Amino acid sequence: MKFQHKVVFITGAARGQGAAEARRFVSEGAQVVLADVLDADGEALAAQLGGHAIYLHHDVTSDHSWSAAIAETERCFGRCDVLVNNAGVYRPAPIEETSEAMIEKMFKVNQLGTLLGMKHAAASMKKTGGGVIINISSIAGLRGFANAVAYSGTKWAVRGMTKVAAAELAAYGIRVNSVHPGFIATDMLKENTDEVNRIGADAAPLKRHGTPEEVATLVAFLASADSAFITGAEVAIDGGWSI
Ligand SMILES: NC(=O)c1ccc[n+]([C@@H]2O[C@H](COP(=O)([O-])OP(=O)(O)OC[C@H]3O[C@@H](n4cnc5c(N)ncnc54)[C@H](O)[C@@H]3O)[C@@H](O)[C@H]2O)c1
Repeated sequence: MKFQHKVVFITGAARGQGAAEARRFVSEGAQVVLADVLDADGEALAAQLGGHAIYLHHDVTSDHSWSAAIAETERCFGRCDVLVNNAGVYRPAPIEETSEAMIEKMFKVNQLGTLLGMKHAAASMKKTGGGVIINISSIAGLRGFANAVAYSGTKWAVRGMTKVAAAELAAYGIRVNSVHPGFIATDMLKENTDEVNRIGADAAPLKRHGTPEEVATLVAFLASADSAFITGAEVAIDGGWSI
């Protein structure tokens, strides 16, 4: 039970990769806070996970919501040991069809949300002597990804902010790493055409999409003491797509 007595806060945990991570952490003994704006899905998952998880309605784009969510985590479980900044939105479009509303939405959820999460979780972790932050970026944050200029901009920012935070927070015993999934079989792939998703599998040397459970295994490793000497790293989990 690697995460016994550990408290893990996961954004975007109602479905997809965040939900798989929540199941994984609970199976290894953690107490998990599921945070999302999809209340019905989040509450149903928390009920499945029994007394080991609570669901919080939490919009990652709001500084006030972050204050309240971390305060509630400390009230319920006493501490916050791990933050997984997983919430994300993806709206692909060619550059000239990228609207201001799309740019703002992806900036706020993917980039601002990740920064606010690090700000509030780090303040909590400093009080208990350390912790781990895992920021979910993308292969779109490792190389050029056509038809995703706004999304890619936010995911490159997540990669860069991870390194700043790793440098700044190491002195407080807080490790920060970024994870870069390739095509992972979740609802997010519905934003792509079937053709793009087919190419996503074909262009990966391992010739398939990944599963949320495979990403959860990597996130659990990065959250555990097994990765104690890893900080500021960027880890791709993409079947080789980004090579
Ligand atoms: N699926 C992929 O192929 C893929 C590839 C690379 C990176 N990613 C990244 O992985 C992460 C997880 O995505 P997923 O594949 O599970 O997709 P998903 O769409 O199933 O999950 C995203 C979750 O984020 C939540 N969310 C959106 N806006 C929010 C907000 N303002 N506050 C709180 N929660 C919010 C959604 O409600 C949803 O539950 C995202 O950051 C995504 O960008 C996904």
